[in-house]
Amino acid sequence: MLTHALIGDEGRTIELGWKDGTRTRFHAMWLRDNALDDKTRSAGNGQRLITILDIPVETKIGAASIKGDALEVSFVPEGKTVSFPSIWLSANAYDRDAARQAGWTGQHTVRWTKATMQNSVPRAGYPAATRDRDVLRQWLSAVKAYGFAVMDDLPAESGALCKVSDLFGYIRETNYGRWFEVRAEVNPSNLAYTNLGLQAHTDNPYRDPVPTLQILSCIENTVEGGESSVVDGFAVAAALQAENPEGFRLLSSCPARFEYAGSAGVRLQAKRPMIELGPDGELICIRFNNRSLAPTVDVPFADMEAYYAAYRRFAELIEDPSFEVTFKLEAGQAFIVDNTRVMHARKAFSGTGKRWLQGCYADKDGLLSTLAAIEHGFKEAAE
Ligand code: FE2
Repeated sequence: MLTHALIGDEGRTIELGWKDGTRTRFHAMWLRDNALDDKTRSAGNGQRLITILDIPVETKIGAASIKGDALEVSFVPEGKTVSFPSIWLSANAYDRDAARQAGWTGQHTVRWTKATMQNSVPRAGYPAATRDRDVLRQWLSAVKAYGFAVMDDLPAESGALCKVSDLFGYIRETNYGRWFEVRAEVNPSNLAYTNLGLQAHTDNPYRDPVPTLQILSCIENTVEGGESSVVDGFAVAAALQAENPEGFRLLSSCPARFEYAGSAGVRLQAKRPMIELGPDGELICIRFNNRSLAPTVDVPFADMEAYYAAYRRFAELIEDPSFEVTFKLEAGQAFIVDNTRVMHARKAFSGTGKRWLQGCYADKDGLLSTLAAIEHGFKEAAE
């Protein structure tokens, strides 16, 4: 794979040539810090054994050569020689040009609309997902790519939603309990516990960190209405950005405030933007919830009108049926949403029947970890 290795900048960098004609540069300091030898990294758990302060500040590459499918580098002044497999160098290359546009997402994120998703909602049966690692892998992988998935064939009984979180991780307990009942109540502590329709929203934006996954399971649903729907917040944010870049900039750069004080002893508050970008412009979180939005006080006076116009337009797009995927959750079904991305809504309901759902939160890092471990296991088995 490697064709040449040219030391540059008096040993502070190295340029590698690849068979396809591309070139990739690395820094001596970066290579030294990421050395793969067992004095730098624990052979057992892969964790780094040294700190940045153990690396001489004047570290340079004294010599480099291609040995088979690896690059061998000698660092001075340590006099240490380390081998880097070319496949590892290729996978960890950082020498790319052009900054990415604000609002970018990684290659594993697939944005969707009603047109692309309504007839291909990702789903799996619970018995199959417990039995067959590949079924579970595909289901978790759908959550990673699309931010939601349905699970069928659960027992239609209280607590069944824990079986879903047990497949990949742990429930995140909150003041609403390990899980909470979603059914119409007298004097509800939350508008979710009524028969009102709920605008598409993300849950609990007043927490920091926000719960990253929500599971809603259905024990009974015999009412008129009460359908569930989901909206890809990343797709809507991209649509807003395309038609109103300044509005997107305001919603992503000015913090909103969210709060919940609906029951005794609880006063949750968070200050985060509705559209959150990472420091490199990556779109990382949507927070949207009309019920818990507090007064917005972090937008400059001169920008408030434009901010509100952008908020209104964002809401209009979220309500646009072309973004909405709808399904009626039946007894024994559950769905999971990535609460940092996909909004969920409920239609109003009425009639003589009963609608009883249960909800809980869980952590996306745990889900992604389980998925990566299953994928890693499959890869090792294939080798
Ligand atoms: Fe909700």
